[in-house]
Amino acid sequence: MKGIILAGGTGSRLAPLTNVVCKQLLPVFDKPLVYYPLSVLMLAGIRDILIITTSRDKAAFASLFKDGSQLGLNIQYEVQESPKGIPEAFIIGEKFIAGSPVCLILGDNIFYGEGLPLYLQNIATLKEGACLFGYYVKDPSRYGVAELDSAGKVKSIEEKPQKPKSHYAVTGLYFYDNQVVSLAKTLKPSKRGELEISDLNCLYLEKAQLRLEVMGRGIAWLDTGTHESLHDASKFVEVIESRQGLKIACVEEIAFLLNYISRDAFIELIEEYPQSQYRSYLESILMREFA
Ligand code: DAU
Repeated sequence: MKGIILAGGTGSRLAPLTNVVCKQLLPVFDKPLVYYPLSVLMLAGIRDILIITTSRDKAAFASLFKDGSQLGLNIQYEVQESPKGIPEAFIIGEKFIAGSPVCLILGDNIFYGEGLPLYLQNIATLKEGACLFGYYVKDPSRYGVAELDSAGKVKSIEEKPQKPKSHYAVTGLYFYDNQVVSLAKTLKPSKRGELEISDLNCLYLEKAQLRLEVMGRGIAWLDTGTHESLHDASKFVEVIESRQGLKIACVEEIAFLLNYISRDAFIELIEEYPQSQYRSYLESILMREFA
């Protein structure tokens, strides 16, 4: 299973914060937003990762993650010239995907909760069809919305409907089999001029190859599309981290604990950090090993 982080877009709703840096590099408490989706892929066991971003921001991402080897990953970069829609990620990423199943995560989605790694590792074994995640929200019309039958099967998916048929928003985490590139190529732009991820999901639905997993209350799915929600996400991370003394989405810690990198490589990563709270935290992970 390969992974794509889609981290382009104009970020216009967050201007002027996004005037010189993209949304996915803005801070969510103590780290850039993109660390959160990257950590989701890592926890799912996905190590071949493509980051798709704008020509303006590509260098910034590459300077942050390089080729990914310091985290035990293979990270590549591609540019989306303009935001023509989420499914364009599969067309841009065709060479990288190379006929493999692929997981797409939107670079502005945050997931957190007990049991998430094992849950995602199971889904990452997908070889046929598509798997989406539904999440009960108060305001579904801001999202793709899935209508479910009494057995929990998907009946319909609509993008930002005015009259949503359920409270289940489709999250920005998607798993697809190797048909995804050819199906994405058949899509036509919607009324708002974009290729729609909901249209791609409907193609899988028509083939009866779409599954939706409901993420329960124990999992937090946070969205960062507005100043308020970005600030709320920071507060959420701060509250959990301060209480536990453990970090959410610390990619270096995840790489070490999942044995993606050796102890020596982890120490090298720590030494690259200047004296900072983040460095002290990484040092504390080493100490805990001996506790
Ligand atoms: O967050 C989940 C929702 O994400 C889903 O429920 C919706 O079905 C899906 O369309 C999407 O809705 P958004 O309103 O959040 O889409 P938005 O256009 O804001 O794009 C989401 C992220 O993807 C954003 O960080 C920018 C990036 N993006 C978007 C488009 C359209 C790109 O990098 N390139 C693009 O062409």
